[in-house]
Amino acid sequence: MTRLAVFASGGGSNAQKIMAYFEHHPSVKVVLVVSNNPDAGVLGIADRFGIPVRIISRTDFRQEEGMLNMLASFRVDYIVLAGFLWLLPHFLTGHYPDRILNIHPSLLPKYGGKGMYGHFVHEAVFHAGEKESGCTIHLVNDAYDEGRILFQAVCPVTPEMNAPEIASTVLKLEHAYYPSVIENYIAGKDRISS
Ligand code: GRF
Repeated sequence: MTRLAVFASGGGSNAQKIMAYFEHHPSVKVVLVVSNNPDAGVLGIADRFGIPVRIISRTDFRQEEGMLNMLASFRVDYIVLAGFLWLLPHFLTGHYPDRILNIHPSLLPKYGGKGMYGHFVHEAVFHAGEKESGCTIHLVNDAYDEGRILFQAVCPVTPEMNAPEIASTVLKLEHAYYPSVIENYIAGKDRISS
């Protein structure tokens, strides 16, 4: 069994899709949810799936031994970021090389990097008059949004769409693809585009 930890800071709609997708999976299991936000919606979702939760402070997050021991105690094989807002410390990327995945709500390398998250991304896409947007699933290294791209899904952006409409269209793509891209990556089958 391959054991996943999902890290999330917010509402957790992607985390929910991942938990549901792997709930009865024969070889992949979500064993832990980690959040930096004690009010995150994802905590209630994890509870409904019976998945243990750990809430971490910034101090906890920087403590190598404590973090690695905590993940080891759940025998975590892969970390999946689903709306987790903190940059990962090097000891985590080093301990899980090519075993940390993230989803970003734009077509990277466009609209990535520090400060580009949530509505900021979609507002930037809107103001630039882009004709398309989408989501990117990538491996995580020490820089925001720069790890190897595994998968991108594209959607058209029409002149009638405002930033919240772009956001909800992209989020639907995220929900549709993130769980199966994780599954395929773990199974050794990388995918580059939809
Ligand atoms: C998603 O748009 C994801 O791409 C980004 O953060 C958002 C998380 O949304 N990294 P949710 O918490 O999964 O609803």
